[in-house]
Amino acid sequence: CSENKLTVFDGLVFDEMTSWYRTAVGLVPTMGGLHEGHLNLIARARQENSTVIVSIFVNPLQFGPHEDYQRYPRTLEQDRLLCEQAGVDAIFAPTPEEMGVQQNNIQESKVTQVIPPSAMISGLCGRSRLGHFQGVATIVTKLLNLVQPDRAYFGQKDGQQLAVVKRLVADLNLPVDIVACPTVREPSGLALSSRNQYLTAQEKEQATVLYRGLQKVEAAFKAGLRDSSKLIAIAQQELAKVSTVLVEYIELVDPTTLMYLEKIEEEGMLAIAARLGSTRLIDNTMLRDR
Ligand code: PAJ
Repeated sequence: CSENKLTVFDGLVFDEMTSWYRTAVGLVPTMGGLHEGHLNLIARARQENSTVIVSIFVNPLQFGPHEDYQRYPRTLEQDRLLCEQAGVDAIFAPTPEEMGVQQNNIQESKVTQVIPPSAMISGLCGRSRLGHFQGVATIVTKLLNLVQPDRAYFGQKDGQQLAVVKRLVADLNLPVDIVACPTVREPSGLALSSRNQYLTAQEKEQATVLYRGLQKVEAAFKAGLRDSSKLIAIAQQELAKVSTVLVEYIELVDPTTLMYLEKIEEEGMLAIAARLGSTRLIDNTMLRDR
């Protein structure tokens, strides 16, 4: 018979005892270049699980042929220190070879892929980023299968990604809880993003117009405005004030189905994508009565 080590707790270490037998595993999937947005997901995972794993993988499948795959920040040593300080138990940092994926694999149909419902990926970022959400859905499925966490943590900042991931977990019956975490911003309101590293100081200042647009929309919603085209127009007007920020889309959708809304009945997600120089920025706000 195998040797079984018996642990004895006295009554003073109740917390220690419960966290010892609740051996939940939390996964925070990232592409590295870690910032406070990621650290917030990690802190939440730390609170809710006895083991926290952060994956760091710049996923070639989700970058289009002309996107920033090569240029994307790769700062593993700094990420490692940040994870250590945040109390992460393990980093999973595979290479593309180890994951068995390469750029253009989706476009060229060279791997088995997870394809979200077309209604969820034909709009918003999916319109300009062909294959992107197939790449995200495929890699997230692989990461969940490899790590087998009880919970996985995703940011509201990537609202379409969050909806797609929740849907794939439901549709494929994956045994994991998806936990959504709020968007972390700089004091200026700019949503944190690994891609903010591409921005000059002046561009960073200009980029804050996205948040001001969202705030104006939130104020109008609070004042009772529900009509989609009017809410969108408010954001458009604000963004037009900064001529270097080129709007790709401003849309109002149902945050779960991502279907366009004509007016908000229960809740809506107003999402923006814009280009500033060579950088693509996204942000969104949730509009709901509660
Ligand atoms: P990445 O851009 O590194 O983001 C990892 C996670 O951090 C995502 O869930 C994202 O929504 C969240 N996040 C990023 N910025 C945030 C912010 N300012 N506030 C709150 N959360 C934020 O998203 C990806 O990587 C990839 O697509 C991935 C899911 C890892 C699949 O490759």
